[in-house]
Amino acid sequence: MAGRIPQRFIDDLLARTDIVDVIGSRVQLKKTGRNHSALCPFHQEKSPSFTVSADKQFYHCFGCGASGNALRFIMEFDRLNFPEAIEALAGRAGMEVPREGESDEQRQQARVEAKRQEEGVNLLEMGTRFYQQQLASSAAQQAHEYLARRGLSEDIVSRYAIGYAPAGWDALKRHLSDRGVDENVQVEYGLLVRKEETGRSWDRFRDRVIFPIRDWKGRTIGFGGRVLGDEKPKYLNSPESPVFHKGRELYGLYETRTQSRRPERMLIVEGYMDVVALAQHGVDYAVATLGTATTDEHLRRLFRLVDEVVFCFDGDNAGRQAAHRALNTVLPLMIDGRQARFLFLPEGEDPDSLIRQEGREAFEQRIVRAGSLTEYLFDHAGEGRDLRRIEDRERFASAVLEGIRRLPQGLLKSLLMRELSERTGLERGTLEELAERGTSPAAATSQAVSQQDSVNEVGQQDRPATQTSSYRRQGSTTLSISGRILHLVVHSPSLVEALPQGEAWCPDDEDGQLLGEVVRLIRAGGYRSSQVLLAHFHGSSHGNRLLALLQREPLIPGPLRHREIEVLVAHFEQQRQRSSPERELKALQDRERSGEKLTREEAGRLWQLICELKR
Ligand code: UTP
Ligand code: MN
Repeated sequence: MAGRIPQRFIDDLLARTDIVDVIGSRVQLKKTGRNHSALCPFHQEKSPSFTVSADKQFYHCFGCGASGNALRFIMEFDRLNFPEAIEALAGRAGMEVPREGESDEQRQQARVEAKRQEEGVNLLEMGTRFYQQQLASSAAQQAHEYLARRGLSEDIVSRYAIGYAPAGWDALKRHLSDRGVDENVQVEYGLLVRKEETGRSWDRFRDRVIFPIRDWKGRTIGFGGRVLGDEKPKYLNSPESPVFHKGRELYGLYETRTQSRRPERMLIVEGYMDVVALAQHGVDYAVATLGTATTDEHLRRLFRLVDEVVFCFDGDNAGRQAAHRALNTVLPLMIDGRQARFLFLPEGEDPDSLIRQEGREAFEQRIVRAGSLTEYLFDHAGEGRDLRRIEDRERFASAVLEGIRRLPQGLLKSLLMRELSERTGLERGTLEELAERGTSPAAATSQAVSQQDSVNEVGQQDRPATQTSSYRRQGSTTLSISGRILHLVVHSPSLVEALPQGEAWCPDDEDGQLLGEVVRLIRAGGYRSSQVLLAHFHGSSHGNRLLALLQREPLIPGPLRHREIEVLVAHFEQQRQRSSPERELKALQDRERSGEKLTREEAGRLWQLICELKR
């Protein structure tokens, strides 16, 4: 492991760095007196409130409060972690980053290693260009036809630098060797395959469509190659090399960054073609793991860019297994404000085939409706279990607790505890104890459950107040916020006018999903009465849900329902914003800037958030 970067080096590096250069190479700066100013890159604005002071080597935005030194800027703007930002600045300054406790020898070795890596990257860049040139040549007729058949435009082909490895054994080898690249290096970086016994070597990729894999800076670090027909193997990938580590890299990540600077979420898919086809249809925030399961490192990387990660799985058995693995990997990373969702595709489809069939909007609808981590965790734990049976409820609780135990402390953990307690009828205290102890809850659970059950048998009235469980009540009396909105909308469909545009605001719980669908149907025009709506869903579980809601007269008088809905939506918005500190901060700042007076609590919260987030 590399040691810490010495503080002295950081000071020295900052002393040699001019913040005006650093920011100026990323943002259009204008000189204004002693300072420079620009449109703030960290929030939307029409007139510049972002200033850079050369004297103080500091930037500050009077609009959103973003501020810091050159290092901070690089971290925020390029979305790098601390060591990466240091590397980036050091690279510009032509300095090498030392590590504490490093001997001269180690330093020398690190230097040689860095040089070798650079050579490797250069070599791979040459490879990319070669494959691209080949695609442009007349020998690539079939490759062109193949790409066209898969619906890829020239624009996408060039954005992903897709190329073609010609048939024959040594086209690339000759190309590189002519340019003085040592054969050993070609082997080391996986472009050539060498048979040890005979010493003979040949091109790894032959007669294949080539997908260059790039790191976050856009440098090629490896390749994937697909056959044009049905031969096997369908895909060949570069082997691990000094620059290519499958557990770390994500195909398409760089291209995502160049496309939309701040996507709201990232989608993790399985294949090269999925990423490219999604981008072709405008879903330009997908990345693929490279033939491996999603690792902790992949996820950390994504969560540095976005708060929400959506896993995409095939609807088959393998997909379900992959989902379970992904769940375990993502749980420890779920600090407050982060979200993970699990999207299961219909059997036999992949993102590529789906988006081609149904287009962007329908595909994105699937994303919006995909189950949250919470839902998936409960569904998965409940699979094949009959929760009316004590033993099954026990195992269900154990399985959920196992997941909860992996979560970091925070809101999600306590929400899940509450939910588990509601679903199983087990006391929260018992569950918490079990979760902490980390032992198999079977014994304690069965005791608690049978206690609970006997209580249930005795009947509601006799139940001690401390044991009120919503286990029985579930779904009967209390409605979630989305349930309340849905309830009002099914009674008075014209209320959709009071709802915000689109469906993105819809909560992603069960009622929320149904609500989204109902709203879409009503807006689409054909469904003006409750009865027609009901008919549409007749016979499905959604139909039953709507019927139950319709049979229940809202307590709110007709004329006041409009207002009620607005309040509910606002409340929901607020909840959603609270789920991410950044969003909450932005919302508060927006309100303050629009001249609204914040309450004392809100002002206090704003200050707290500023301190926390600017750390
Ligand atoms: P799939 O077999 O699901 O292929 O492999 P796909 O993405 O649908 O490809 P198309 O649509 O037929 O072109 C998914 C991923 O698994 C890895 C690749 O990374 C691929 O993108 N894979 C698959 C291999 O590495 N080798 C193989 O032979 C097959
Ligand atoms: Mn496919």
